[in-house]
Amino acid sequence: MSNYHIKHLEEYYQVYRKSIREPESFWEEIAEEHFLWRKKWDSVLDWDFSKPEISWFKGAKLNITENCIDRHLTTRGDKTAILFEPNHPDEVAEHISYNELYKRVNKFANVLKEQGIKKGDRVCIYVPMIPELAISVLACARIGAIHSVVFAGFSATALATRINDSDCKMVITSDGSFRGSKTIDLKGIVDEALESCSCVETVLVAKRINTEIYMKAGRDKWLAPLLEKASDVCAPEIMNAEDPLFILYTSGSTGMPKGMVHTTAGYMVYTAYTFKNAFQYKENDVYWCTADIGWITGHSYIVYGPLANGATTVMFEGVPSYPDYGRFWDIVQKHKVNQFYTAPTAIRALAKQGTDVIEHYDLSSLKVLGSVGEPINEEAWHWYNENIGKKKSPIIDSWWQTETGGIMISPIPYVTPTKPTYATLPFIGIQPALMDENGNELKGNQVEGRLCIKFPWPSIARTIWGNHQRYKETYFSAFDNKYFTGDGALRDEVGYYRITGRVDDVIIVSGHNLGTAPIEDAINEHPAVAESAIVGFPHDIKGSALYGYITLKDTGETRNHDNLRTEINQLITDRIGPIAKLDKMQFTNGLPKTRSGKIMRRILRKIASNETDSLGDTSTLLNQEVVQDIIDNAL
Ligand code: PRX
Repeated sequence: MSNYHIKHLEEYYQVYRKSIREPESFWEEIAEEHFLWRKKWDSVLDWDFSKPEISWFKGAKLNITENCIDRHLTTRGDKTAILFEPNHPDEVAEHISYNELYKRVNKFANVLKEQGIKKGDRVCIYVPMIPELAISVLACARIGAIHSVVFAGFSATALATRINDSDCKMVITSDGSFRGSKTIDLKGIVDEALESCSCVETVLVAKRINTEIYMKAGRDKWLAPLLEKASDVCAPEIMNAEDPLFILYTSGSTGMPKGMVHTTAGYMVYTAYTFKNAFQYKENDVYWCTADIGWITGHSYIVYGPLANGATTVMFEGVPSYPDYGRFWDIVQKHKVNQFYTAPTAIRALAKQGTDVIEHYDLSSLKVLGSVGEPINEEAWHWYNENIGKKKSPIIDSWWQTETGGIMISPIPYVTPTKPTYATLPFIGIQPALMDENGNELKGNQVEGRLCIKFPWPSIARTIWGNHQRYKETYFSAFDNKYFTGDGALRDEVGYYRITGRVDDVIIVSGHNLGTAPIEDAINEHPAVAESAIVGFPHDIKGSALYGYITLKDTGETRNHDNLRTEINQLITDRIGPIAKLDKMQFTNGLPKTRSGKIMRRILRKIASNETDSLGDTSTLLNQEVVQDIIDNAL
């Protein structure tokens, strides 16, 4: 029996049991048989959640790009590794073979070295979904530089915060980006960000939209001529298993975004293993994940997981609505996509267009449909199943997080019977626990609580860059000796998990995690604002949208609320990015507060969701009178 590729349910249970009873020998066997090591490990797992310290495959030496590229060259050299589909359908798709990827990554790696980047240096990658994004990620990994990809939709302020937090020496970007019918001046955003980043010495610029841009002498360099001159052979830096591979920022409930640090060996083993099984990838399949590489889904399931398995992975530059809402299906038909992985928000937006648009396309190549990023509602699940999967492609509703590195709870297609809105069973090696508010584990089925994980898995993030204490407090302090996910979940009568959503102040809008505190900080910067509180409310397409309650300073002036709304959303766009704009803004005379001065968000959430009949106990409020006023003026 191969533990690497699970093909039926009985096998899942057997392998799962083994992975729980003997985790070390289980992962050791997977690691030994399916990856290339320069030196084997001295120990498989060392861990202590109280510190917390976790290391997998300690003592091992490897380079992840040898696993993702070099080792495929003899058997898959001419196979397409990355299939790039440009923003505009008339632009020809680019098939980058493993041979070509090898050369391009090595050239890029040599350019990085030539520009003074060494093992352990941080490189910020702010590049749209063009091949240079995946290639620069791999080039960093080739030489042991730590990449920090920042989604190219973040604003200059958000970019600067991330660059400074991890002290990046270099930024890689492009002259601009195409996004549907729009072009975006990325380099301009980088220039603005760098006004407050003294750590950056060099900016490498890829050409994409061919506009005239400002190039700062001595700092900014066009990538193409440097690549042209560079050798296409670059010996891989031999890394320790626990050397950091990358930093990726995610929003927390409060404060700065958290730079989650993922290390090399465990991340590689787990993303490769989960990719193979969660998508049942077979040698000639074409796999497409619609995420952006700026998020963890893109890191793990566009780049590392697929390439470690020698897969063909599609990278799409554009958006689902351009040039029309048939674009996703056009791409599926054109490239005969077999596995399709997207987010519920995209499914809902496409469902809204009706089914006529789908009928023009041949979707018969599809075998597996994936969903990730937020709970998928029942209606969207059925729409996806019926209209895209034609009821023959299983839907894998995969639950995981930036922090977990890889898929944690998910059906295995053709193995696990699916159930709408349920992420179903834990992945191999994953030990979930549901906890009550007093810290007791809820045993048995038909229980609901806070979702924790009891035992380490290979791709758990090891720390928060520069702030191990925050890592400990955020994930390991709520429940003794357990990783706390921040999500609530229930376990049904057969042991299937359903994720019910965040239990903290993170709101997921269109699949993007947004912390309320940074948005409130941005709003409070407006000179007319006294204070604000943000909550989520249900939205047809975005899943959740943002509702802001804003109290203005009492200056005796009358304000034009429409202008204020525009100004406030502009501030949010400048500080964070357009994804954090508010859908609704209500100007209030005050915010409901507890006697200790904490804003009672529970009440505000109910009002925003139109559930004012069940406000619960408001007697502990300091200022009960504002509640009725807020209800009366709710939007
Ligand atoms: O609340 C959960 C939700 O997204 C959060 C993690 O977000 P992020 O770190 O950006 O990673 C997203 C992609 C892996 C989780 O804490 N989430 C993710 N997948 C699901 C989900 N909620 C319900 N069902 C899912 N399948």
